[in-house]
Amino acid sequence: MLYIYPRKRKTYNKVQTTIMSYNLLKGKKGIIFGALDEKSIAWRTALRCHEEGAQLVLTNAPVAMRMGEINKLAEAVNAPVIPADVTNMDDLKKLFEGAMAHFGGKIDFVLHSVAMGMNVRKGKHYTDLDYNFSQKTLDISSLSLHRVLKTAWDMDALNEWGSVAALTYIAAQRVFPDYNEMADAKALLESVARSFGYHYGVRKKVRVNTVSQSPVKTTAGGGVKGFDGFMSYAEKMSPLGNASADNCADYLVTLFSDLTKMVTMQNLFHDGGFSFTGVTQEVIEQMEK
Ligand code: NAI
Repeated sequence: MLYIYPRKRKTYNKVQTTIMSYNLLKGKKGIIFGALDEKSIAWRTALRCHEEGAQLVLTNAPVAMRMGEINKLAEAVNAPVIPADVTNMDDLKKLFEGAMAHFGGKIDFVLHSVAMGMNVRKGKHYTDLDYNFSQKTLDISSLSLHRVLKTAWDMDALNEWGSVAALTYIAAQRVFPDYNEMADAKALLESVARSFGYHYGVRKKVRVNTVSQSPVKTTAGGGVKGFDGFMSYAEKMSPLGNASADNCADYLVTLFSDLTKMVTMQNLFHDGGFSFTGVTQEVIEQMEK
């Protein structure tokens, strides 16, 4: 029997929405990387996965945990928190070991919601990158997905038909000048998802995808120069408007569920139609003013 019960919850949308729970993740076990505070896409996704019946383990960089915010989420979703720096293979191994011990078995899904632009942070222009920073950026934001997948692969930690998703942005395909080095980082991230997705698909029927999300005002998102202008431009250029973090969480639930078993190695646009819109009436009117 399927129980469907509506729940009211706060969102960062303009309107409060009623979300239905469909038990789409009942019995599934997942690791969620990157919940920093309640605006984080990972935070919203953890809440949503919990509503859909998943059991979770949360993780973030040890330094990010000093804020202590994550403990609130851990309580809300009844999940342990295991610190791991995504650039450290020992941390990742301990994380997967800890998660499997907690679940008493293998893992069904992983959310990679991690990024850091070192040059962006230090105010370095794209034409004047510090390459030591660049290497760190690529390690944290892109190769980390390879590190996570390799750790799971070596430990055979994922169940067959497992699902791994990472978050990306359309600057990997089209130029957004202030997105800076993160455009390159996202292009590499999407490539890792495709390449590892092939091998994991063949070996274990595990699927790996990236979700290319609309701009959202979070700690990572807000770090991009001119973010507010960027966000309202995207809003006007998207027939459905910008997708919120809660919308993204809903979409990720479907990717972790059994309803998307044959979707792998894809970069999936979750952006209210932005990626396929040339121009909108609203933007034309703005230009004519
Ligand atoms: P956020 O700042 O809440 O999340 C980024 C997370 O990465 C933080 O929890 C941070 O602690 C973690 N992190 C950084 N370095 C780490 C390390 N060495 N080890 C482990 N974790 C580390 O911001 P948001 O927006 O939720 O970002 C999540 C993902 O979504 C990122 O990949 C971001 O690029 C992507 N994204 C964000 C968009 C936005 O407009 N906010 C749009 C499209 C994609």
